[in-house]
Amino acid sequence: MNFEYLKQTDKEIYDLILLELKRQKQSINLIPSENYTSKSVLEAISSILNDKYSEGYPYKRYYGGNLYVDELEVLCQKRALNIFNLNPDEYNVNVQPYSGTPANLAVYTGLLNIGDTILSLKLSHGGHLSHGDSVNLSGKLFNFIHYEVDQKTGLINYENIEELAKNYKPKLIISGFTAYPRIIDFKKISQIAKSVEAISMADISHIIGLIIGGAHPSPFPFCDIVTTTTHKTLRGPRGALIFYKKEFGEKINKAVFPGMQGGPHENIIAGIAVALKEAQSKNFKNYAKQIILNSKTLAKLLIDNDIKLVSGGTDNHLILLDLRKFGPGRGYFIEKALETADIIVNKNSVPGDTFPPYYPSGIRIGTPAITTRGMKEKEMIKISEWLTKIIKKFAINDMPDDKEKRQIIIKEFNEKIKEDEFLNKIRKEVNDFALQFPLPGLN
Ligand SMILES: Cc1ncc(COP(=O)(O)O)c(C=O)c1O
Repeated sequence: MNFEYLKQTDKEIYDLILLELKRQKQSINLIPSENYTSKSVLEAISSILNDKYSEGYPYKRYYGGNLYVDELEVLCQKRALNIFNLNPDEYNVNVQPYSGTPANLAVYTGLLNIGDTILSLKLSHGGHLSHGDSVNLSGKLFNFIHYEVDQKTGLINYENIEELAKNYKPKLIISGFTAYPRIIDFKKISQIAKSVEAISMADISHIIGLIIGGAHPSPFPFCDIVTTTTHKTLRGPRGALIFYKKEFGEKINKAVFPGMQGGPHENIIAGIAVALKEAQSKNFKNYAKQIILNSKTLAKLLIDNDIKLVSGGTDNHLILLDLRKFGPGRGYFIEKALETADIIVNKNSVPGDTFPPYYPSGIRIGTPAITTRGMKEKEMIKISEWLTKIIKKFAINDMPDDKEKRQIIIKEFNEKIKEDEFLNKIRKEVNDFALQFPLPGLN
């Protein structure tokens, strides 16, 4: 893809895309929810399928001209069911959701009445915004009760889930998280759901690729509903899937269209189908295993360097650094300092954080994107050294409680790090290192 037409017709957008490409090539991306798609996926999503309206479902559309689109959507559904060995008499899948958050809302609005009770993990303990946080529509429309991780171990407290389920009798119980570094026992949570006659839903957005690659237990056949994004460990385009036991089919499909959305993005559905085909390969299994090898190696090296991790390590693609020993609210400074050195992470709350999500006390990192670029255990040594050096130097800055003081300190900090020689030196090393590992889609 060389953007030759764009270059001629819209130089401003062309230049911005090229700058972003350069940034991606020369930086180390440790954001656990990001990844790089293949050239084939990028070709599919930038195809003329983008121009087609196809409101409705295969063979029942509200527009003409959907002969090939119908075939495409059915093929994507088949690939999605096949990849988890699902029996089409038992499960089906909706491939139209625009992304993870609307997919989750479609499940709630399709299966429940407004105001019904749902049990899910709290955002500050690793849950997702769309699992009922008060600032998200999900939390405004439904009565969410939240379970937490154990503050000492950082692990899901299944007894707590059971107790809350018995006390509050939720209609739906959600498992599957956004910042949880350990294995999830989907079977146990769905058994708890059954015991209180709740629907069990797993949101496997983060770990779908690990599950397909056999590196994490599957939520099938335990869960009634499984939602997932397609752009994280699956390495597809930005989209989502909703797998459902057939009895829920009509309600789920109606909730997606016409409930939440209009015309599906068939170019994206084509890209998802391509990613699902790629994920069937032996290479993908190796990829999933390597993500975890890299993650465990990086976690161990950080622990050896005296960095505290939530739950003391990781079983999956994700590592949550607890920086509270330096003082609360330090995640912001570390994210910014690392970014100045072209190491991209995201600041994140840690369980029991006393600071708000924009100024949290932790950092979340992960290995899916760097593993796609071909990095292995050996490369984790260098990455852990850079992380440790920067954390130890910049986590000593105090983040005040007071809002006004905070703004002043942040402004000063952001000015100072731009010129920081130590960070600039590391950035050059990082750039040389990252350029040795090509991006698969756009070189
Ligand atoms: C567990 C989980 N569910 C849902 C989502 C939402 O996905 P999207 O950003 O596509 O709306 C995310 C995104 O990070 C997630 O981690």
